[in-house]
Amino acid sequence: MMHVVLYRPNLGKRPAHLISEASKKNIQPQLSTDPWKEKPEFVFRWGTTSDIPDSDKRVVVNFTKSIYKTSDKGAFRKKMSDMKLAPRTSLSLVEFCKDPFIPVIVRPRGHQRSENLFFCDNLSDVVARCQKYHEGGYYISEYIEKDSEYRVFVAQGRVAWVIKKLPVDKKEISWGCVSDGSFEYVAWGDWPIHVVKNAINVMSHSTLDFGAVDVIVKGDKAYMCEVNTAPYLTPYYAGCIAKTFDYMISKGSKDRIPLEDNKTWKDFIHPEVAKGA
Ligand SMILES: Nc1ncnc2c1ncn2[C@@H]1O[C@H](COP(=O)(O)OP(=O)(O)OP(=O)(O)O)[C@@H](O)[C@H]1O
Ligand SMILES: [Mg+2]
Repeated sequence: MMHVVLYRPNLGKRPAHLISEASKKNIQPQLSTDPWKEKPEFVFRWGTTSDIPDSDKRVVVNFTKSIYKTSDKGAFRKKMSDMKLAPRTSLSLVEFCKDPFIPVIVRPRGHQRSENLFFCDNLSDVVARCQKYHEGGYYISEYIEKDSEYRVFVAQGRVAWVIKKLPVDKKEISWGCVSDGSFEYVAWGDWPIHVVKNAINVMSHSTLDFGAVDVIVKGDKAYMCEVNTAPYLTPYYAGCIAKTFDYMISKGSKDRIPLEDNKTWKDFIHPEVAKGA
């Protein structure tokens, strides 16, 4: 039996190969535009929404509709903001002007790599910036002066790893920078619990089976920024993800693993990652 990590051209080749190398379950990398040689049982979508032949005969991990839902970054952040899991967010300038909150970040609804990120600390700037987009083409979100920022990888409602972002300058608006290698590993016992809970909650609303949630922190508050369905990986982090994928294959299911308690890292960690602890 074989399985695939499906990736798209220009995105995810290295992560897909790293996961394949670390897996003990014959997970092969599959480029979405290449012909399928064999029929896989499990298909793990690495950020791609391309068609899967006979998809009803396979276990598809991360449905297309869930990837679309979270890649509309503005709409998903607004949804999470309504649930108090993200900074206050508005999709409409008219609505925003009725009850403005300043400073804010204005961005197009879809974005990546910290591009097109506009900080505005007065109302006329917000208006001018939003008017550069068509109605519904932007979002406005409250600027949080962060103390820290994390990326949390969640699979089946459990955490595989947490990294802490290390910005060159803490005054920078974006601490995105994961692919520059400017991040550090957070040991299990040091996982900030409010951050981990935020990420797990966000993932439960995303309907994704796995994803890496960017979470910013101010004091005792944690706010999501976005969910990455094809995050940057080093071999160690890919190895942890391979464990969660192997676990799904062994159990024959990608179902969420219920949380029995929610007090310490032991209650949140993915069981396969925790093995050997
Ligand atoms: N409302 C906010 N308040 C403070 N900082 C924010 C806010 N929104 C975004 N940021 C900063 O901008 C960075 C990039 O935003 P986000 O992760 O949503 O989008 P991206 O550009 O698609 O991501 P990436 O840079 O991770 O590829 C975040 O990591 C965070 O540091
Ligand atoms: Mg991000």
